[in-house]
Amino acid sequence: MKQITITGGNISFSCEDDDTVLRAALRAGLGFPYECNVGSCGNCRFELVEGEVEHERKDSPAYTERDVQRKRWLGCQAKPHSDCTVKVRLTDHYKPQILPVKTAGTLTEILDHTHDIREFRFTLSQPVMFLPGQYALLSVAGVEGARAYSMGNITTDGKEWHFQIKRVPNGACTGQLFDAMKVGETIGLDGPYGMAYLREDSPRDILCLAGGSGLSPMVSITRGMAASDKLKGRKLHFIYGGRAARDICGEPMLKELPGFGTDILYHPAISMPDPDNPDAWPGLTGFVHDIAAEMFGDKLKDMEIYFAGPPAMGDAVMKLIVEKKIPPAQVHFDQFY
Ligand SMILES: Cc1cc2nc3c(=O)[nH]c(=O)nc-3n(C[C@H](O)[C@H](O)[C@H](O)COP(=O)(O)OP(=O)(O)OC[C@H]3O[C@@H](n4cnc5c(N)ncnc54)[C@H](O)[C@@H]3O)c2cc1C
Ligand code: FES
Repeated sequence: MKQITITGGNISFSCEDDDTVLRAALRAGLGFPYECNVGSCGNCRFELVEGEVEHERKDSPAYTERDVQRKRWLGCQAKPHSDCTVKVRLTDHYKPQILPVKTAGTLTEILDHTHDIREFRFTLSQPVMFLPGQYALLSVAGVEGARAYSMGNITTDGKEWHFQIKRVPNGACTGQLFDAMKVGETIGLDGPYGMAYLREDSPRDILCLAGGSGLSPMVSITRGMAASDKLKGRKLHFIYGGRAARDICGEPMLKELPGFGTDILYHPAISMPDPDNPDAWPGLTGFVHDIAAEMFGDKLKDMEIYFAGPPAMGDAVMKLIVEKKIPPAQVHFDQFY
């Protein structure tokens, strides 16, 4: 166990030898900035004033030569080898609502949603609560490094965590999960993490934008809205995008919810209709950000917006948010990498 002290305040916390500076800070209830937890976004940078650390993921994409020169490290990957003093700006925004915990999950069920999206359901050895829209780190045997996946369910007892996962061609973790993992087997789970959770105190209607792998957190947000007394009477629009008709899913899960068709409105869209058979898809065509702009225009400014999906979709939605001058406090996402 190492002791981490933050400069400029009277704050210190303990970090287990196999933990990272960011995750230990969050476990201690501190508002250490972060987003992806896998070394890709760089939001968790801190300056090492004293002590020794080592990155868990040696090739972290967000770690640059400039960081080396400035003695900066990535909190989500830095494991302390000694007691350390670090410089970082804590903010209340990142203070966890629920402290993340390391636990284990036993796979109980696998469901197919499309040709390449599958739901993996785990029962936890130690129940841990999470908020709709949050994610966890999954440590899967045979895969180097943990991967982030968002929970698709909601919970009142923390016993079940379900993940809707899109297979990535030649992906190390999705390959193991889809091809090797069997019901009854166990993985390491660590969470909950993430800032894109359902805001129950918002007075606005909700827009969920999801593409491909972004299904899970948006389904969780929608389930959370349907179960929330505080959000009764609010409308939620769910725009889900895929390339072709075979990529589209989600409606059966949302149909089960009270208010589907009246308060919860589902709008599936494909971006690459079959040119030889354009009538085969009678629904919306185009990218989710364009459809959102067309459907809501300037009304987007009055909505609470959640989004998740591949990085290209995330960038396009961010551009729309800037163009439409939507207040950043109304926009919630944890960029996927
Ligand atoms: C916050 C967040 C939430 C996500 N939620 C979902 C979800 O709900 N559903 C879904 O399908 N996908 C989700 N993803 C994407 C998911 O985490 C994986 O990137 C994706 O499944 C590909 O993993 P792979 O191992 O199969 O592919 P690979 O190509 O083998 O791995 C690629 C990903 O793993 C990371 N990686 C590679 N090596 C390491 C390492 N040593 N340590 C840590 N990371 C490493 C890479 O940066 C890259 O992001 C989410 C990502 C983030 C950041
Ligand atoms: S690089 Fe650490 S949280 Fe993204």
